[in-house]
Amino acid sequence: MTSDLRLITTPTGKVGSHLFKQLRGGEHPLRLFVRDPATLPDGAASEAEVVTGDLADPGAVRKAVANVHTAFFCIPFVVDKVSLTDWYHEVGGVFSEALAEVPETRVVFVSSGGAHREGLGPISALGQVEQMLEKAGRHVVHLRAGYFMENHFGALPTIAAENVVYGGFSSDLQIPMVAVRDVAEVAARWINDPDWTGHHTAGIHGPADVSMADVARSLSAGLGRQLRYQQVPPEAVAGALQQAMGATPGVAADYQAMVAGLERLGTDYRAEPRTPASTTETTLDTFIQTTLKPAFEGFVAQQRAAPA
Ligand SMILES: NC(=O)c1ccc[n+]([C@@H]2O[C@H](COP(=O)([O-])OP(=O)(O)OC[C@H]3O[C@@H](n4cnc5c(N)ncnc54)[C@H](OP(=O)(O)O)[C@@H]3O)[C@@H](O)[C@H]2O)c1
Repeated sequence: MTSDLRLITTPTGKVGSHLFKQLRGGEHPLRLFVRDPATLPDGAASEAEVVTGDLADPGAVRKAVANVHTAFFCIPFVVDKVSLTDWYHEVGGVFSEALAEVPETRVVFVSSGGAHREGLGPISALGQVEQMLEKAGRHVVHLRAGYFMENHFGALPTIAAENVVYGGFSSDLQIPMVAVRDVAEVAARWINDPDWTGHHTAGIHGPADVSMADVARSLSAGLGRQLRYQQVPPEAVAGALQQAMGATPGVAADYQAMVAGLERLGTDYRAEPRTPASTTETTLDTFIQTTLKPAFEGFVAQQRAAPA
């Protein structure tokens, strides 16, 4: 392979936007695959080649992966499809078909801890996409990330209104929680490394396994207000997803299966043990100070300014 080009899919997404920030101006030329170039950060189009298209469009994806050394592949979380599982299979299938035509292209895939398990809804679907990618390509790494700390943004309205964080997990269930900037950092290392070959899985676990009770304690300290965590049944989490985010019943059902499955499996849900290599830097307290607290203050200010 002679190309040095690195492809970033979802460059405006949570992991993808951090990845672009980390790779821009670096040693390798970049190609960004995006639905609407106007959504890219300032200057992106002069620093990277932009390919416009949808991840579900086989022709556009084939164009995106052509002549690429390493591709960062992320399947966006969506709420408006029939189901998340079907969406992951569809996009995974389209990307794998394109990869099969250029099987030497390296792929860095955003997967999840637990992807090797059945019965975890969209997480299991990511595991099925891992298998599609391995069939199609010779060099693939699955980044089996923990629970994104950014998921806690979903709690801002109930923190502001009631000082309560609601969720489906038991308050003492400890799971790895990771900031997306750290997921991007691991992705960037695989993308910049020209030497690896074959199929790999890499756990990305944040600095510690954390329970929702720990999250409530950290949020209380970081936001300066006394918060508590309240567990609700998985079906209530699914209902809230439909009401607050307009998720379809199928997406909500997938999410419910994931929450129920993780709760059933407990800390055993992941295959990769915590190691120094899987342990990443950003702590929950740092994430709250640098990222969540400013967003919370902005949210509260916006609510105050909104007409009653
Ligand atoms: N949340 C977690 O705790 C967690 C943990 C482990 C793994 N994961 C996995 O991480 C992945 C999501 O990563 P993320 O949160 O970084 O992604 P994300 O933020 O959900 O990605 C959203 C971006 O994808 C783009 N996009 C949406 N639909 C598209 C389409 N049809 N074609 C092309 N681009 C499209 C959007 O760009 P525009 O709107 O600008 O077009 C948007 O900026 C999922 O596969 C999820 O299962 C999540």
